Amino acid sequence: MATSGPVAVVTGANRGIGVEVCRQLVERGFSVVLGSRDVAKGEREAEQLPGSVSARQLDVADQGSVDAAAAWVAEHYGRCDALVNNAGVDYDTDAMAASADLARVHRAMETNLFGAWRTCLALLPLLRESLHGRIVNASSSEASLADMGAGTPAYHVTKAALNALTRTLAAELRDSAVLVNAVSPGWTATDMGGSGGRPIAEGAASIVWGVTLPDDGPTGGFFQDGQPLAW
Ligand SMILES: NC(=O)c1ccc[n+]([C@@H]2O[C@H](COP(=O)([O-])OP(=O)(O)OC[C@H]3O[C@@H](n4cnc5c(N)ncnc54)[C@H](OP(=O)(O)O)[C@@H]3O)[C@@H](O)[C@H]2O)c1
Repeated sequence: MATSGPVAVVTGANRGIGVEVCRQLVERGFSVVLGSRDVAKGEREAEQLPGSVSARQLDVADQGSVDAAAAWVAEHYGRCDALVNNAGVDYDTDAMAASADLARVHRAMETNLFGAWRTCLALLPLLRESLHGRIVNASSSEASLADMGAGTPAYHVTKAALNALTRTLAAELRDSAVLVNAVSPGWTATDMGGSGGRPIAEGAASIVWGVTLPDDGPTGGFFQDGQPLAW
């Protein structure tokens, strides 16, 4: 299945912002690997999308699943030009840091930080080979330390940690063609965001901006809708 066009891997792409990111990337000429924990759900979404979309089982909290998906990308495409670490969990507005269930925080960390991190590690060999490698970590304005207040502790801490990973990885990859950014979709009307948020297409477009940056675009930044957010 070798392709001359760019290949993007999107995690948590069976619903919400992830599936719309897949749609927008296909429209821009990417071959897309649509990752989902439940591959049947991913396949159902992939069938609805035009263009080259391959649904793969991908649970970012499971090292074996991540390794198998990365191996499949290497075998079938031999390249990976973009990774969108979109999978995210537990917008825990019902919790407080002062009374937190640390097992719950730990579970959130396993997806929101380590999931993105292990997927980066698995795909970095291919991303480094790309002439235009891009990593977009789906962050949140709620990860901003500058604006952080009480509550939502698992989400705040895990997304702030993801921002720290973004900066560190970007600095380490500065001598490569891989640009690494943390990008917030903004408050978006998905299962996580709930009603009242903006349309999913707009949230996804904020993320896709980070994938389609020019080669002299920013790296190690924190953005929403192409504009910098305060760390
Ligand atoms: N919506 C907002 O207002 C908003 C604002 C700021 C940031 N964000 C961020 O944007 C990203 C997408 O959010 P969303 O609103 O689309 O959320 P969503 O509707 O809750 O969808 C989350 C997706 O992540 C997947 N996922 C969860 N754990 C996973 C794992 N271990 N491995 C692989 N996939 C996993 C879910 O799969 P299942 O179907 O299997 O559960 C689902 O496909 C998240 O990182 C979120 O934190 C969202």
